[in-house]
Amino acid sequence: MKTTTEISTKRPAAKLLIVEDDNLSSMILERIFLNEPVSLLIAHTGEEAIRLATDQQPDLILLDVILPGMDGFEVASTLRKSVDNVPPIIFITAQREPNDIVKGFEAGGSDYITKPFQPLEVLARVRTHLRVRSLLNSQTKMIEQLTEANRSKNNFLGIAAHDLRSPLLSIRGLAELLNDDIYPTDKPEHLEMLQAILSGSDRMLHLINDLLDISRIEAGALTLLVKPGDPAAMLSRAVLINTGSARRKNISLKIAADDGESFPFDGERLQQVVENLLSNAIKFSPPGSTVEISAAVSDQHLTIRVRDQGPGIPENERHRLFQDFGRTSVQPTGGEPSTGLGLAICRKIVTAHEGTIDCRNLSGGGCEFSVSLPWRKDIIKENHAELRAHCG
Ligand SMILES: Nc1ncnc2c1ncn2[C@@H]1O[C@H](COP(=O)(O)OP(=O)(O)OP(=O)(O)O)[C@@H](O)[C@H]1O
Ligand SMILES: [Mg+2]
Repeated sequence: MKTTTEISTKRPAAKLLIVEDDNLSSMILERIFLNEPVSLLIAHTGEEAIRLATDQQPDLILLDVILPGMDGFEVASTLRKSVDNVPPIIFITAQREPNDIVKGFEAGGSDYITKPFQPLEVLARVRTHLRVRSLLNSQTKMIEQLTEANRSKNNFLGIAAHDLRSPLLSIRGLAELLNDDIYPTDKPEHLEMLQAILSGSDRMLHLINDLLDISRIEAGALTLLVKPGDPAAMLSRAVLINTGSARRKNISLKIAADDGESFPFDGERLQQVVENLLSNAIKFSPPGSTVEISAAVSDQHLTIRVRDQGPGIPENERHRLFQDFGRTSVQPTGGEPSTGLGLAICRKIVTAHEGTIDCRNLSGGGCEFSVSLPWRKDIIKENHAELRAHCG
């Protein structure tokens, strides 16, 4: 009766599964690998091969094409469907049969050897595939380690930002109380100090909120709440928040949007995108200029545009725009803080909506940022139901 055999050589390093129903051929293969640092598993049927490949996870399979019952091609296809991380499969064919060779590659084979065996060729092919396999395995391990390191970094970022936020909010709250004359002071230098505390804590809060957003998005923990909303109303809210900074630079804000439209988006997150585009337009434009903002619903798309009369984006620095901490040589015109996280967050939020964000320089000077969101079909199907989607 044919049995499954495990034969160990002196220095086992890699596991080789030989699937061969012919005893003489399998003995020849065993001899070929006698001095190799491999341990051999021998199967004589397709079913045995699948069981051994599943249980023992070999690093390479030498698979005869002609087997009793299930043939080698079927074994390879079954393994591809049922086993994770299938090792390279080298088919053993009786002769250089082009049909068999093509069929073998189609079934997921990595290579083939022919009978009668040429020992040096067999060894060379097996060693090469084992080397590639080992390199791929270490690469996969490295990717796993990097992913884990990145996860820990995001975690740390999230915790650090969160812990910084609470005391900062208290400092800010107290400074506001003093500033609002609740505890009057007649010393002008105290007021100056208060203003400095307020503006410093504002900057820190802005940075912390951005870091929290980035870490939440990268950890896949930011959930979009998509529901039908009025783009014009959302635009007005974003404009209102930026009115103070525009006024300080004498920049006029012009809105163009049709009222009463309805489009599915996450109102809070999209407003955050528009707020950043507007704050950028104001931050990088000269005093006295105009910033135009528009929203249009057409052809199943919502398009939002923010145009300014600033310096535009230097062509050779465009690639930095949407990167984390990506800033260009264009500086704020009123000494505003500039971290380089706003557009990176915008892009992640827009991408989570399955939309696009882009920027172009205008021929008359300045630039235009545009955001385009598609109408989500899943929302239409659900008859305007809410949709939660993960941002990542
Ligand atoms: N409207 C604009 N005109 C000219 N340059 C711009 C404009 N918007 C963005 N930029 C350039 O792109 C960079 C990235 O913008 P982003 O919004 O990511 O960061 P930021 O505004 O500097 O800081 P943050 O938004 O994190 O407070 C800016 O630093 C600036 O160099
Ligand atoms: Mg910004």
